[in-house]
Amino acid sequence: MKQHKNNSFSIFVIVFSVCLFGIFMYNEDVKSIAEFPFSTSKASEIQEQQSQQQQGNQVQESIKNEKENEVTSLSFKASTEEITKETDDHDMKTLVVKDGEQNIEEKKEEKIEVPAVVEDDEEDVELPPEDCDLFTGQWVFDDVTHPLYKEDECEFLTGQVTCMRNGRKDSLYQNWRWQPRDCNLPLYKPRLLLEKLRNKRLMFVGDSLNRNQWESMICLVQSAAPPGRKSLNKTGSLSVFRIEDYNATVEFYWAPFLVQSNSDDPTRHSILDRIIMPESINKHGKNWKDVDYLVFNTYIWWMNTFTMKVLRGSFDQGDTEYDEIKRSVAYRRVLKTWSKWVEKNVNPNRTTVFFNSMSPVHIKSLDWNNPDGVKCALETTPILNQSMYLDVGTDRRLFVIANNIVQSMKVKVHFINITSLSEYRKDAHTSVYTIRQGKMLTPEQKADPVTFADCIHWCLPGLPDTWNEFLYTRIIANS
Ligand SMILES: *[C@@H]1O[C@H](CO)[C@@H](O)[C@H](O)[C@H]1NC(C)=O
Ligand SMILES: *[C@@H]1O[C@H](CO)[C@@H](O)[C@H](O)[C@H]1NC(C)=O
Ligand SMILES: *[C@@H]1O[C@H](CO)[C@@H](O)[C@H](O)[C@H]1NC(C)=O
Ligand SMILES: *[C@@H]1O[C@H](CO)[C@@H](O)[C@H](O)[C@H]1NC(C)=O
Ligand SMILES: *[C@@H]1O[C@H](CO)[C@@H](O)[C@H](O)[C@H]1NC(C)=O
Repeated sequence: MKQHKNNSFSIFVIVFSVCLFGIFMYNEDVKSIAEFPFSTSKASEIQEQQSQQQQGNQVQESIKNEKENEVTSLSFKASTEEITKETDDHDMKTLVVKDGEQNIEEKKEEKIEVPAVVEDDEEDVELPPEDCDLFTGQWVFDDVTHPLYKEDECEFLTGQVTCMRNGRKDSLYQNWRWQPRDCNLPLYKPRLLLEKLRNKRLMFVGDSLNRNQWESMICLVQSAAPPGRKSLNKTGSLSVFRIEDYNATVEFYWAPFLVQSNSDDPTRHSILDRIIMPESINKHGKNWKDVDYLVFNTYIWWMNTFTMKVLRGSFDQGDTEYDEIKRSVAYRRVLKTWSKWVEKNVNPNRTTVFFNSMSPVHIKSLDWNNPDGVKCALETTPILNQSMYLDVGTDRRLFVIANNIVQSMKVKVHFINITSLSEYRKDAHTSVYTIRQGKMLTPEQKADPVTFADCIHWCLPGLPDTWNEFLYTRIIANS
């Protein structure tokens, strides 16, 4: 058991190091987004952000020291022993499992507290009409059905996203439900989702925002799975969460540009000098074959610079020369490569493909007319007035490119239009309630949100659960 515990701990270390890109990246993202011409910025901000960039280098150094290919299982078998789990913020949590069956009973009873999941019959779930626009609507306060799971009931969440455990005091950000204008999202039923995933693989492919959503999906499915016999195996770019009794997996594949790049190593990658090979995708793509549900994204890593560096030749042949081309031109080339891969390799009779539109950031509180704000750090409610003009600096050109390419494909791809509805959620970021270099922010760092608030990633439970409700809607509609 001792050994097991150490393993559990080491996987958290690895997961942490993966999380670091997010934080590290954030420093740079701030810079580029502040400089983005559609967004106003002050010279002093840029200066400050450049010094953050230097701190970033230290983060990168520490990432390099982490071991690769660490493999661990978090599964635990019900037994008469006391099992101590190491949680990711190094708090100790003790769980006594007396015997497997009794524990299952207990889990069922817990479920009954949540009104939304009482009924188990598939028939009870009403699907929205196929042609209903799920993404036009509004945020509705609903503390009866949301959050869809509790933070402390999902042991698999990393310290990057557990905002309440990390000291956030307000929790209302967990209680907002997305209400489409012309129809309803189906009631979320964990068991129904799990049944649909039986003998199937669901894989998120992309950057740390897709990893954010992957963590959410793990929580959504694991709540209905029997205790134990759930495991997380991280090997290189691929992380696999497996639910044994359903032979189901929820996976995450790290490929921040989808195509090959010098940022593909999940624990060591060049950050400041990002270079891509826009026409090279098979090295990653071979890992996506025969997956039943594929969910792609790529955005935030594009936002550091106005131009993208494109390699002349191949990394594998040691080439280092590159050309710099416009961000939007490079983005189009990459998504063209991706769409060709999908059309060549995806059998639409087996596989359902999703593309997530860009996840927005909330860096400047003046964007939503709050002169007293500090980035996203003081925000506790969504923007509810949709008549208000809102521009948080999202590069809409990339949205249009992605949407056009997806609509023109021969294989149907579901375009998950999360951008506008997420732009209203200035309240939902991890802010200072997160980790940095594998450690919780110190009280001093928490007191300095100008420097340390992460206004890119999202707390869980929280907004990415809504993104997953869109996937859920499509997944349960499949027979
Ligand atoms: C995306 O959703 C927003 C509302 O959230 C809507 O205004 C916009 O037209 C949608 N775009 C597409 C391409 O569906
Ligand atoms: C388990 O799931 C895998 C991956 O989806 C599938 O290929 C395999 O056939 C499943 N096994 C059984 C026994 O159904
Ligand atoms: C984790 O996955 C790797 C690669 O698929 C595999 O070799 C290894 O045996 C797995 N480890 C566990 C504990 O399942
Ligand atoms: C998908 O199924 C249809 C109808 O059963 C069949 O005609 C078609 O050949 C299948 N496509 C592929 C790529 O297997
Ligand atoms: C919403 O925003 C519009 C435009 O800024 C403003 O005219 C209107 O008064 C606001 N509505 C409310 C209810 O605050």
